[in-house]
Amino acid sequence: MKLAGKFLVVDGPDGSGKETQIKRLAEWITAQGGQCTRARDPGGTVIGDRIRHVLLDFDLATMDPRCEALLFMASRAQLVAEVVRPALQKGHTVLCDRFISATCAYQGAIGVPPAEIIALGRLAVGDTWPHLTILLDVPPETGFARIGRKRHHVSSRRNVGQRSIFEGATADAMERRPLEFHRRVRELFQELPAAYPAPVVLIDGERDIDAVWEDVHKAVERAFQ
Ligand code: TMP
Repeated sequence: MKLAGKFLVVDGPDGSGKETQIKRLAEWITAQGGQCTRARDPGGTVIGDRIRHVLLDFDLATMDPRCEALLFMASRAQLVAEVVRPALQKGHTVLCDRFISATCAYQGAIGVPPAEIIALGRLAVGDTWPHLTILLDVPPETGFARIGRKRHHVSSRRNVGQRSIFEGATADAMERRPLEFHRRVRELFQELPAAYPAPVVLIDGERDIDAVWEDVHKAVERAFQ
């Protein structure tokens, strides 16, 4: 199977549809007899989940941007050592929700230069960089409208004490940042194909799920033919 031992990342702004496309990729790969390991960044390990909690369940206003970047990278170092590398060695296809690309965009948007984040990434993950990163491009208005709708169905009982810009929805620390921040995140994702040291494809994520899937599927076929 040509995707055996390959590392695929799906990334993009909040509400870009990553989870749906990762689910489709996993179904497609297993239908061909491949084995998948799914991972989530930040988190995905006991240590990483604790770091995720520090990063997303509190107000980040007092956290220095470099501290923020280092914590995301620390969670990722653990994820790569504990989950990604062993799975690749077993011949699994690893499907990861976000990676260093997200730090370039989100912590880039609060002033940490993406080139420095990439240098830090080399320290954190060594040579375990994705064989392909798929970036789903959506404007923040679309992404947050989707998240708001989803949360409306599932979360009125879950209260983390913070409310987002959408009625009835709860928000994590990143979602509570202003729209301008999220616009900059999107721009930095759009600039990533030229700056990232591993292959990146940018796909229009504003269309319906099937149209996006067609492009995701084609991009993977093209990268690993
Ligand atoms: P998630 O919604 O994909 O679980 O990610 C949680 C939030 O953390 C999301 O708003 C993006 C943000 N994030 C960063 O700011 N930097 C990073 O390096 C990563 C992986 C996520």
